[in-house]
Amino acid sequence: MLFPDYRPRRLREKPNFRKMIQENRLFVDDLILPLFAVEGKGIKKPIDTMPGHFHFSCDMMVKIVKEAHSLGIPAVMIFGLPDKKDPLGTQAYAPDGIVQKCVETIKESVPDIAVLTDVCLCQYTDHGHCGVVEKGCIDNDASLDLLARTALSHARAGADMVAPSDMMDGRVGEIRQALDENDFSNIPIMSYAVKYASAFYGPFRSAVASSPQFGDRKTYQMDPANALEAIREANMDIEEGADIIMVKPALSYLDIIHTLRNEIDMPMAAYNVSGEYAMIKAGELMGWIDATKVVMETLLSIKRAGADMILTYSAIEAAKELNK
Ligand code: PBG
Repeated sequence: MLFPDYRPRRLREKPNFRKMIQENRLFVDDLILPLFAVEGKGIKKPIDTMPGHFHFSCDMMVKIVKEAHSLGIPAVMIFGLPDKKDPLGTQAYAPDGIVQKCVETIKESVPDIAVLTDVCLCQYTDHGHCGVVEKGCIDNDASLDLLARTALSHARAGADMVAPSDMMDGRVGEIRQALDENDFSNIPIMSYAVKYASAFYGPFRSAVASSPQFGDRKTYQMDPANALEAIREANMDIEEGADIIMVKPALSYLDIIHTLRNEIDMPMAAYNVSGEYAMIKAGELMGWIDATKVVMETLLSIKRAGADMILTYSAIEAAKELNK
C-alpha cells in the first residue's frame, strides 16, 4: 500500500473515523487508586513529594474512597505508615495495624469498592528493608512467614485482594498457603512479580519514610537491564499461585509489559509509580506541560503496551476526564 493509493490521513480526517479506528482505549474500570493511611483522627496532610496526595487517617480516607467509587474506580490500594517501626516490622501484621484498621473502616463505609492491600515490611521495619535483616543481609526465608502473616491479617480485616511488593523469593506460595489454610482461598493475590530496583520510587519512599537505612534494594528488586528475567519472575509467581502479575514501574518498562503480554496468559497490572507522577506534577507546576493531557497519554501508552489495569496516583483526575 503506497501513496497515492493509500492515504492514512483519509481515516484521520473526521473525528468519528478516528474513534472508529481507535485500537486501544482507557476505561475508568482500568484504574486503581493508591492511598496512604496514617494513625490518628481527622488527618489529611499533604505529601510534599506527591502534590495532590495526602496522608489520611482512616476516618478521612473514607471521603476520597467515596469519591473514587462515585467516579466508577473499581479499586483502591492501601499503604500504611505505622507510628512505630522495629526490626521485625511487627506493625505490618498486628491485627490492629494501620492498614488493617483502614480496611475495616473502608469496607464498612464503601463496601462496593474493592480494597487491595500492599503487603510489605519496609514501611514497618526500622532498617527500611522489605525483609528481615540478619548480619547485614536481607534474610529471604526468615521473611516469608512475616509476609504471610501480614497478608493473612489483611484478609482477616476484610481486604478483597492482597498485593505482595517485597520481592522475596517464594512469598507468593507462602501467602497462598496461609490464605488457603485459613478459609481465604477466594482471596486473590496480585503479585508485584516484576519489580525493578528503580529510582522512580523516590517520592513514595519519602512519603512513607521507607528508604533503606543501609545499602539498597538491589539484592531483591530486579536489575533494570534485565528483560528475560521478567519472564522467569512472572512465571515463578504464577506457578506459586499469583492471580494477577504486576510490572513496576510502568513507563521505563513498557517493553517489559509488552513482552509479558505475549508470554503469559494471566491478567496483568502496571504500576505508574510515584516518580512518574511527580515528574508530571512538577512539569505542571512549572507551567511547562498540559498535565491532564500528558496523564491521559501516559495511561493510554501503558494500556497499549498490554496492561489490563493500572495503579496510578492520577486515578481520580483520569476518571474525571474519562467521565466527561
Ligand atoms: C514497598 C513499595 C514501594 C513502592 C510500592 N511498594 C517502594 C519500594 O519498593 O522501595 C513504590 C511505589 C511508588 O513509587 O509509587 N516495597
